Amino acid sequence: MKLARSKNGSADSVQDTAGPSDPTHGARHVAIIMDGNGRWAKRKHLPRALGHKKGVEAVRNIVRAGGELGLEVMTLYAFSSENWNRPEEEVSDLMGLLRQYIQSDIEEFVENGVRLKVIGNYRALASDIVAMIDNAIERTAGNRKMTLAVALNYGAQDEMLRAVRNIASRVKAGEMEPEAIALDDIAAALDTADLPPLDLLIRTSGELRLSNFLLWQAAYAELYFTEALWPDFDRIELEKALQSFGHRERRFGGR
Ligand code: IPE
Ligand code: IPE
Ligand code: MG
Repeated sequence: MKLARSKNGSADSVQDTAGPSDPTHGARHVAIIMDGNGRWAKRKHLPRALGHKKGVEAVRNIVRAGGELGLEVMTLYAFSSENWNRPEEEVSDLMGLLRQYIQSDIEEFVENGVRLKVIGNYRALASDIVAMIDNAIERTAGNRKMTLAVALNYGAQDEMLRAVRNIASRVKAGEMEPEAIALDDIAAALDTADLPPLDLLIRTSGELRLSNFLLWQAAYAELYFTEALWPDFDRIELEKALQSFGHRERRFGGR
């Protein structure tokens, strides 16, 4: 988004030129590290699995809200390439919830114009999940209202490794010279190739780290951290994050 400074140029008087009537405040692509399901359950003396179940409800609400607010893309970190290190039972709970979520929400995606996309090496998931995902991607491919990009078995370092291998094999095949590799070629080899630039990266639950999420894409994204645990993150919280985004002055290295 374009931001204009007021006459006195002070940082607290940055104007939100997208206008208060634009609920996205100019953000096209918002990504969320959905963290804190376990702590949410712990605080309520409930099993972790229930925290994850509540987390899925939060996903459902936030996808609806994102579409209604007019976001073009929401990218949600659902399962990292490092989350395999969790106890087998928890991984299996999470995969079960993923199955349920795709099955129960695919019709709503179709109805609401949501295009499903998956980033990450999802082909390494169980074959029935891969089939479900491929089917959902195909059924929603023509949808234009919003793209929901779900990060599954995603790690930014793994994504970059796969991109490097892809580019290296084209060089080896004589299709391009090493010196000709441009930044755009790298961006085009990433899982997010067809998405607009990342504007806002949100992390819930108070942790101040990226945990291997969208490292390349976050180069000039605005960051927003909230103490809210993921199951408590709702439309109001999303609106707060977008409002904060609206007050940022993005410079991209310029002055
Ligand atoms: C996020 O919640 C969900 C996933 C990573 C799948 P966590 O399960 O990480 O919850 P905390 O961080 O232990 O509270
Ligand atoms: C990041 O959360 C991954 C997802 C939200 C899917 P984690 O809970 O796995 O991250 P760390 O381990 O606290 O860095
Ligand atoms: Mg966590």
